[in-house]
Amino acid sequence: MNLHRLVVLVALFIVATVPVRANESLHLDAPKPDLAGTPPMGWNSWNRFGCNIDEATVRRQAEAMASSGLAAAGYRYIVIDDCWQASRDDAGNIVADAARFPAGIRALADFVHSKGLKFGLYSDAGTLTCGGRPGSAGREFQDARQYAAWGVDYLKYDWCHTGTRDAEAAYTIMAKALRESGRDIVLSICEWGNNHPERWGPTVGHLWRTTGDIYDAWQGRRDWSSGMVDILDLQVDAWRHSGPNRWNDPDMLEVGNGGMTTTEYESHFSLWAMLAAPLIAGDDLSAMSPDTQRILSNRDVIAIDQDALGQQARRIWKDGDQEIWARPLQGGDVAVVLFNRGPQAVTMHVGWAQLNLPARIQADVADLWRHRVTRGARDGVGGLVASHGVVMLRISPAIVP
Ligand code: GLA
Repeated sequence: MNLHRLVVLVALFIVATVPVRANESLHLDAPKPDLAGTPPMGWNSWNRFGCNIDEATVRRQAEAMASSGLAAAGYRYIVIDDCWQASRDDAGNIVADAARFPAGIRALADFVHSKGLKFGLYSDAGTLTCGGRPGSAGREFQDARQYAAWGVDYLKYDWCHTGTRDAEAAYTIMAKALRESGRDIVLSICEWGNNHPERWGPTVGHLWRTTGDIYDAWQGRRDWSSGMVDILDLQVDAWRHSGPNRWNDPDMLEVGNGGMTTTEYESHFSLWAMLAAPLIAGDDLSAMSPDTQRILSNRDVIAIDQDALGQQARRIWKDGDQEIWARPLQGGDVAVVLFNRGPQAVTMHVGWAQLNLPARIQADVADLWRHRVTRGARDGVGGLVASHGVVMLRISPAIVP
């Protein structure tokens, strides 16, 4: 082979394998659509089903969301995560796995919409998804137009197989493509907090993952996944960055998947609500235990997550295994979680001063799991907190005459 042909071949190889330059940049002309004034709520296939997902399973989730009371409690999005894709056709259009989705994505989206719900899909900014299916690199506009034609309302956009791509630029291209698609589509950024998404995520997307993946355990590390409290510990400083239409995403819920106790799932759900996290259920909604259904549809806890102020909780106190998390709410109430990571039940207490409340106030205090209200509390409140459990409170201060 002569030198000229070798140079041409090498150049072709580089063009074929690096679809977008690392210094790509794009301007977003259209403003971000206002689609997530409160954290998105819904269901996603990944935590429970992984790549073992098909049309019948997704339909069952939509039916269950509509009939179980979850939709009435605020859950909206039915999102298919990785592995729905099979290939691209000759024109480069993304093609769904016909064996698993025989009626096609459009029909599935129509079904989800017929239940009064919204429909979401997953793709990836790389050449391949994390599950090895075709990614959207270099096909962003074509894919966004396809999603819009199918009736997609939400895109989770992952970060595997991205080579030297610049994350901000890559997500900006997809944001631009979605905004030009003619349909309102929530953009869920999933680059695991690796490229400071808090700096550019607010203009580009509606939510961004702050960490690697969660797995269904109280604590621990496994490859790049973490148990629930390990994920929680990574959120402590993130409160500065989130707010309406720009949410930190500490990953999806594991409630109901079997790896934690009921008490631990109550803690998981409470803490995610305190974090103003997207509440994306990750269990099989068509086979929920009464406890799972009770936890996922606790409207008082959901109301904290969905509070209009959108102020993520801060950990205001920690002593060994005991922590207090607090967030201010619209209208002057305060949400508090007393959290006990330890092996024994303990009595915990939070004082008004810790919450920056005037010492002389009285407050009505609602216990959001025991469904009890204490009227006229003075100085502070507390209670017995189970091992690995929470006491979650909504404190409504009143002016003392
Ligand atoms: C990554 C994401 C997960 C999930 C899988 C799918 O690990 O972080 O949430 O989407 O890919 O392959």
